[in-house]
Amino acid sequence: MKSFKNSVSHKTLWVAALLAFALVSLTGSATLVAKKQETTIGKEAPTMSWSPEIIKRIRSGDPQKGEAMAKKLKCQKCHGATGISDENDTPNIAGLSRAYAFKQLFDYKYGRRKDKIMRRRCEKVTDQDLADMAAWYETLKMEPMMGIAASKTVPVLVNKGDMKRLLLPCETCHNAKGTGRGQLVPSIGGQKREHFIDTMTAYKEADRKNDDYGVMRFIAERLSDDEIEELALYYGSKPIVEEE
Ligand code: HEC
Ligand code: HEC
Repeated sequence: MKSFKNSVSHKTLWVAALLAFALVSLTGSATLVAKKQETTIGKEAPTMSWSPEIIKRIRSGDPQKGEAMAKKLKCQKCHGATGISDENDTPNIAGLSRAYAFKQLFDYKYGRRKDKIMRRRCEKVTDQDLADMAAWYETLKMEPMMGIAASKTVPVLVNKGDMKRLLLPCETCHNAKGTGRGQLVPSIGGQKREHFIDTMTAYKEADRKNDDYGVMRFIAERLSDDEIEELALYYGSKPIVEEE
């Protein structure tokens, strides 16, 4: 009996040991998987998180301080003194909502939106400086949009959408005149045409992938290059003509 009991307890021990081993290796690999995901997310974080601290920071942005900081950092060299750019391929930033502008600057700073020029500038300053500058540009006015519908597809894409391609109308989010909606959807009316095309193509090719939930990547993927150009003609501002 004793030996049987012994063998049982041995067996129990073995089973327990095996179970423990299985558990350790399982949780071990789970931690590994979690770690792997964490590093992938850390490296390629698709977007800034809208934490209460971040929202507080955005709200606290001071336009006056932002104006001074933007001057100091020479943002006007490319984006103009009033946020209207001097080049067709450089975005107008006047009138962007502070939350959208802050998110873009923050994402440049931490490498989630790729652009060397912008990253170099954003890296130098504090997150509060970014919030101040975003608040300043929000107070400025955008350029008028062209509003040219180059084909029949443009009004459809803008006002009706295309359910075959699961495309919501642009105006659902960006508003009828491209003025944007709330804090998170940027104004696109009067955006520089070339930047408009560049950035839509970047979404399409997933070179720009800091958009929350991949909203704009989903849309741009479903548009042809011609449609993107036509939408730029509709929403974009007149190109700057180089003086001889
Ligand atoms: C040397 C030129 C240059 C300077 C100086 C510069 N920018 Fe930019 N900025 C650009 C270009 C080009 C882009 C578009 C990059 C891209 O495609 O992501 C851009 C993008 C942006 C965007 C995103 C706009 C959008 O619609 O998504 C913001 C906001 C911005 N810049 C703000 C600033 C601020 C604030 C400063 C000063 C700290 C600054 N920029 C300095 C050239 C410049
Ligand atoms: C479901 C809502 C939604 C719809 C529909 C939508 N957008 Fe957007 N769009 C957004 C959001 C949100 C952003 C900001 C994404 C980010 O953070 O990069 C954005 C950003 C953009 C930008 C970048 C602006 C800049 O200055 O860089 C362009 C251009 C744009 N949208 C064009 C369009 C066009 C054209 C359509 C219609 C074919 C469209 N969008 C439909 C939500 C939408």
